[in-house]
Amino acid sequence: MPLSWYHSGEPGVSMAQNISHAVMAQRHEPRDSADDFPTPPWATRALLEHVIGKEKVRGLSCLEPACGRGYMSLPLFEYFRQVESSDALPYGFGSVRDFLEYPFAALSHDWVITNPPFRLAEEFVDRALVVARRGVAILARTVFLESVGRYENIFRLRPPSKFAQFTERVAMVKGRVDPKASTATGYAWFVWEKDELAQPSLMWVPPCRRSLERAGDYEIR
Ligand SMILES: C[S@@+](CC[C@H](N)C(=O)[O-])C[C@H]1O[C@@H](n2cnc3c(N)ncnc32)[C@H](O)[C@@H]1O
Repeated sequence: MPLSWYHSGEPGVSMAQNISHAVMAQRHEPRDSADDFPTPPWATRALLEHVIGKEKVRGLSCLEPACGRGYMSLPLFEYFRQVESSDALPYGFGSVRDFLEYPFAALSHDWVITNPPFRLAEEFVDRALVVARRGVAILARTVFLESVGRYENIFRLRPPSKFAQFTERVAMVKGRVDPKASTATGYAWFVWEKDELAQPSLMWVPPCRRSLERAGDYEIR
């Protein structure tokens, strides 16, 4: 089927549409890009409400090590007792720390939860599994599940305890959150609960965007 390529209007996003109905979108970021695509807050609440369970994190601490402008840290703070936020770049929200270089102590935080730059996601999982006492949750494109390299380096010996595929699209745009944004890219939560590392369980994040959106979620920061 022939493809016609056009730019979506969003920086860093190209779209390919064939002459039937299928639409695909991919983020084409330079290799050294910070991958500054904030997460709409409802997608983080969905993790606690539908994947981990909010009662399981009550009173616990969490590190968001690629916090950007804090669009994930703030909803995390609705559920955790304490949320520490940092990022390699100075967005004016958390401390400025490169997660792959800063000496966070092993087992220093109950949970490590983030949406890392895709090109560093594998390294983030490695490091997060050292820093977290109880669990790690990584929001990534569904295709993070594939590739021989990731199978060998992560999934073969350290499969996630839960793979939770979003049924709704989680649209992310560069440098901001936008309630009207759309995407053809699928996202999932990859969760490693250290007391449940056995057989990975496949689950779906049910439709929940409308019920988990709050006033102020899309304010510019
Ligand atoms: C996809 S954005 C996600 C931001 C935030 N977690 C959210 O969900 O709204 C990825 C973030 O990773 C940060 N980043 C890139 N490389 C990093 C590194 N080595 N250590 C810490 N943060 C990094 C970028 O600056 C950017 O803010």
